[in-house]
Amino acid sequence: LREHEEFTKVKNIATIELGRYEIETWYFSPFPPEYNDSVKLYFCEFCLNFMKRKEQLQRHMRKCDLKHPPGDEIYRSGTLSMFEVDGKKNKVYGQNLCYLAKLFLDHKTLYYDVDLFLFYVLCECDDRGCHMVGYFSKEKHSEESYNLACILTLPPYQRKGYGKFLIAFLVSNGSLNYWRQEDAYELSKKEGKVGTPERPLSDLGLLSYRGYWTRVLLDILKKHKGNISIKELSDMTAIKAEDILTTLQSLELIQYRKGQHVICADPKVLDRHLKAAGRGGLEVDVSKLIWTPYK
Ligand code: ACO
Ligand code: ZN
Repeated sequence: LREHEEFTKVKNIATIELGRYEIETWYFSPFPPEYNDSVKLYFCEFCLNFMKRKEQLQRHMRKCDLKHPPGDEIYRSGTLSMFEVDGKKNKVYGQNLCYLAKLFLDHKTLYYDVDLFLFYVLCECDDRGCHMVGYFSKEKHSEESYNLACILTLPPYQRKGYGKFLIAFLVSNGSLNYWRQEDAYELSKKEGKVGTPERPLSDLGLLSYRGYWTRVLLDILKKHKGNISIKELSDMTAIKAEDILTTLQSLELIQYRKGQHVICADPKVLDRHLKAAGRGGLEVDVSKLIWTPYK
C-alpha cells in the first residue's frame, strides 16, 4: 500500500497549456495510459479535451465550436459568469475537468462516476469566449451534509479572491447569503440546508474556508453584539455547527461553562479580529443569480 501511495505521488505531467496560459502542475493525475509518455499536455480551454501535441490542439481549435463550458449559465455579473454542468449530461467534460483538477489536488481520489456530480465552472468572459478561472463540484444527493467535493482556482488566477467567491457562491446557492440578508432568506427557502466541505481539506482549502467562515461569523457577531447562539449562527449562515465552533475557538471567542460552549465576544476582541480578517474580495451579487436547485 505504501509503495502504491508513493507511486501515485510521482508527477507525470509537468506542464499543461490551457488557453493563453502555460501552467506548471502540482501533483499526479491518472490520465489514460496512452498519455504515459507525455510531460506536457495541450487542453482545449472550452471542452477541456486534452492532446499530446500542439498541432493536434490547433487542428481541434479550428473545429471545436464551444466557446464556454457546456451547461447552463446560472450567474452573470460584469465579465464573470458561472456555468452549471451536469456530469450526467456532459460526461466527457466532467471527466476532463477531473483529470485537469487532479493536477492541483493532492489527496483527492478521482471520481470516474461524474454522473453523480454537478460542476460549477467560473469563467472570465471576453469576445473570444469564456475562460475558466476555477470551479467547485458538488454531489447531487449527498448522504452526509457535505456540500462541496472539490474546489480549485487555476494557478494563474489564485490569490485574487476567486476562491472566496467560489465558496460564497456555493454557500449563497444553498442557503443564506450574508451580504444581502433580504434576498438570502429567499435563497435559503429554495434549498435551505447546512453544509460543510468534504474532508480532508488541503492546507489551502482550510485557509480559504477558515477565512470565509471567520469573516461571515465576525460580521454577524458584531451586528448582534455577541448575543447569539451557535445554533442561531448555523441557521443564519448555513455553516455547520462544528465548523462554527472550531472557527470561533481558533479566534478564542469560545468559553466552556457548565458543560457548554458559549460565545464570549468581547467587542474589542471582535474589532481586532475584524481588522485582521480583511475584506471579502469579489462579492456574489445574488440578484445576478439564476437558480433552481437540482431535482
Ligand atoms: N498562501 C497563504 N494563504 C493563502 C494562499 C497561499 N498560497 N492561497 C490562499 N490563501 C488564503 C488566504 O488567506 C486568502 O485570503 P487573502 O488573499 O485575503 O489573504 C484566502 O486563502 C483565499 O484566497 P483566494 O484568493 O480567495 O483563493 P484562491 O482563488 O487562491 O483559491 C484555493 C483558494 C481554491 C484553495 C486554491 O488555493 C486552490 O485551488 N488550491 C489547489 C486546490 C486545493 O487545494 N483545493 C482545496 C482542496 S479541499 C476540497 O476541495 C474540499
Ligand atoms: Zn474543444
